[in-house]
Amino acid sequence: MRFPSVAISLSLLTAVAEAAVTWTATPFNPAAVPLAVRTPYLSAWLPQGAGTALNDAWPTFWTGSILGWAGYIKVDNTVYNFLGAPSVPGTTTTKAVQKSLTFTATQSTFVLTAGPVDLTVNFLSPVEPTDLVLQSLPFSYLALSAKSNDGQAHSVQVYTDISAEWVTGDNSLTANWTTTTTSNILTHQVQLVSQTQFGEVSDHIQQGSAYYSTASGNGVTYQTGQDTVVRAQFINNGKLANTQDTNFRAVSDNWPVFGFAHDLGSVNAATSPVVISVGHVRDPAIQYIIAGGVLQSRSLYFWSKYSTVASAISFFLGDYSNALSRANSFDAKLNSDSSAISSDYAAITALSVRQAFGATEISISKNSDGSWNTDDVLMFMKEISSDGNTNTVDVIFPAWPIFLYTNPALGKYLLLPLFEYQATGQYPNKWAVHDMGAHYPQAVGHNDGNDEPMPLEESGNMLIMTLSYTQKSNDQSLIKSYSNLLDQWTQYLIQEALIPANQISTDDFAGSLANQTNLAIKGIIGIQAMSEVASLLGDGSRASNYSSIASSYVPQWQQFATASSGDHLTLSYGNSSSWGLSYNLYAEKLLGTKLFPDSVYQMQSAWYPTVARDYGVPLDTRHTYTKSDWSIWTAGIATSTTTRDLFISSVYKYASDGKSSQPLGDWYETVDGSVEGFRARPVVGGHLALLLV
Ligand SMILES: *[C@@H]1O[C@H](CO)[C@@H](O)[C@H](O)[C@H]1NC(C)=O
Ligand SMILES: *[C@@H]1O[C@H](CO)[C@@H](O)[C@H](O)[C@H]1NC(C)=O
Ligand SMILES: *[C@@H]1O[C@H](CO)[C@@H](O)[C@H](O)[C@H]1NC(C)=O
Ligand SMILES: *[C@@H]1O[C@H](CO)[C@@H](O)[C@H](O)[C@H]1NC(C)=O
Repeated sequence: MRFPSVAISLSLLTAVAEAAVTWTATPFNPAAVPLAVRTPYLSAWLPQGAGTALNDAWPTFWTGSILGWAGYIKVDNTVYNFLGAPSVPGTTTTKAVQKSLTFTATQSTFVLTAGPVDLTVNFLSPVEPTDLVLQSLPFSYLALSAKSNDGQAHSVQVYTDISAEWVTGDNSLTANWTTTTTSNILTHQVQLVSQTQFGEVSDHIQQGSAYYSTASGNGVTYQTGQDTVVRAQFINNGKLANTQDTNFRAVSDNWPVFGFAHDLGSVNAATSPVVISVGHVRDPAIQYIIAGGVLQSRSLYFWSKYSTVASAISFFLGDYSNALSRANSFDAKLNSDSSAISSDYAAITALSVRQAFGATEISISKNSDGSWNTDDVLMFMKEISSDGNTNTVDVIFPAWPIFLYTNPALGKYLLLPLFEYQATGQYPNKWAVHDMGAHYPQAVGHNDGNDEPMPLEESGNMLIMTLSYTQKSNDQSLIKSYSNLLDQWTQYLIQEALIPANQISTDDFAGSLANQTNLAIKGIIGIQAMSEVASLLGDGSRASNYSSIASSYVPQWQQFATASSGDHLTLSYGNSSSWGLSYNLYAEKLLGTKLFPDSVYQMQSAWYPTVARDYGVPLDTRHTYTKSDWSIWTAGIATSTTTRDLFISSVYKYASDGKSSQPLGDWYETVDGSVEGFRARPVVGGHLALLLV
């Protein structure tokens, strides 16, 4: 009778969890709330699920492993926990009551009631697409502000700490730490004693340091030591002892924590915020293959402006109010552009921004004299969760809309490593490479040619992204420097795109298949993209040749790819009972090519509502799961608002259904809205696709 009893207890748990949502959520309660999400290694979330308050669970890394981050507020003589789930034997605390949760593109804000005081907890992870220094600073803000809710003044102190879990994927390893004051900034720094350059354990980097910082001054105290000791000190005294524990030990050995307390004094009206930064810095950050198999060590871009971590933190904390107003402007612009489509859509794009940028890092190299080479800007992206690959072309591709929307130059910096590497001649295949390396943060290429084989997919992706970058930016540097590679990939597409061999597409989890209708679309658009590139480069004969080849493929493709019933495209040629999301047609909208007849768009737009399930249209007929990124791309080719909104509302319903507590997963079930195996992937940048067409 084991199974029935498990089922009963699970359903009870669900009922309890759902009953627990007592706060207002704007726009909704996401599966996981981004807290400090800026890089693949600074990625802290609240696993929210069906209703987990900020003080109902520990924040977690995107993988789900705990990142100790605790917070208390003392009001008169009562101590309330507001962040994390700490337990301190021998003390009496109560839990603040969450009143609201609001998220925007860059911020997650919680308001909790601690008796007669309301505490606003704002997590700001800046997104600074047009400033490489600001975007590459691997820090995030936590701002705390209190105000009385009963008209009386109250004595208020706030406390937060982080644990050493922020520096490793293996809590049995030994960490060491220091607390220092540099130009009025108090900083706790913690790191592994034994580090591995460019090495990960369970997706955490085993290199570099975590930093927890705040402005020093009257009423600010600090302490490092065992979790229960430091927290008890605050609970009992409302302040810390300004002492350091120098008994360096394993992360999980009497859990060392790094705390700050701030005395807000007598509080009535809302206080100006207490600002704390949390960050993770490593240097060098990226290993990158250049000509001759030489491995170059690259640093995050911010080093070109700040020569020490302390000066970077000092700037970052001092810049808080500017950063907040830039963030508010960014949030407002995205919200207004997205709301022009729908409020559901605005919620989806807001949730996607930190996640997409949080998989990326901007880097530079050094000149031979040791100075920074700021002309050599490369951006790197970790695939996240489906794989740890570096700059996967078919992950950059779905995410591409967010870069075109926020700053096309970022797209160029993401493509450049792929172009530079293949231009060295070290990659042996004639099609475009799948990724820059199997394990982030190593971009060491695939000189053996044994990368995951997606020849049509990646060749088409590179051509489409390169032309769209060139169109948006009016910068011809990529097409001028790499026209030979682009032409080489086009030759491949001319041979292979119309009758695609048995191969995988980006949706590799669905398996390989011959004659995929959607892959052929990508290849044909890729050929047309090269025609336009040739035209921009003044090579009219090549342009007209490729354009006529692409155009001649379209009617043949239509014959192969249209179901015998004439009312939908197939998944694969000749299989009339099959169909799928023909999201690659979105590339036509993006590029403004007009290869495929309107009738194809109208047919697909009419078809999808007839095959929709409760949570959207399946990716294809092989399974009932779908992809949120491709759903929004397909919304972008809909010829009717009804079909467009069907895709949007399906993704919204899934993202807000409370059935997962992981950072948004792009792969999910259309039958019941449950998540499949992916989470936290940058492909959600593709949710911004409708802002470009
Ligand atoms: C931490 O360990 C590293 C590596 O052994 C060492 O270089 C550093 O000085 C140590 N820091 C402290 C504060 O002991
Ligand atoms: C692919 O489609 C073409 C055109 O219909 C057909 O000739 C070929 O046999 C198909 N290949 C496979 C493996 O089904
Ligand atoms: C057009 O391009 C194809 C593929 O590269 C090539 O085989 C053909 O000779 C070209 N035709 C002309 C007229 O240049
Ligand atoms: C046609 O597609 C359906 C759905 O994807 C699949 O179940 C079936 O096996 C396919 N038929 C053939 C002949 O490949």
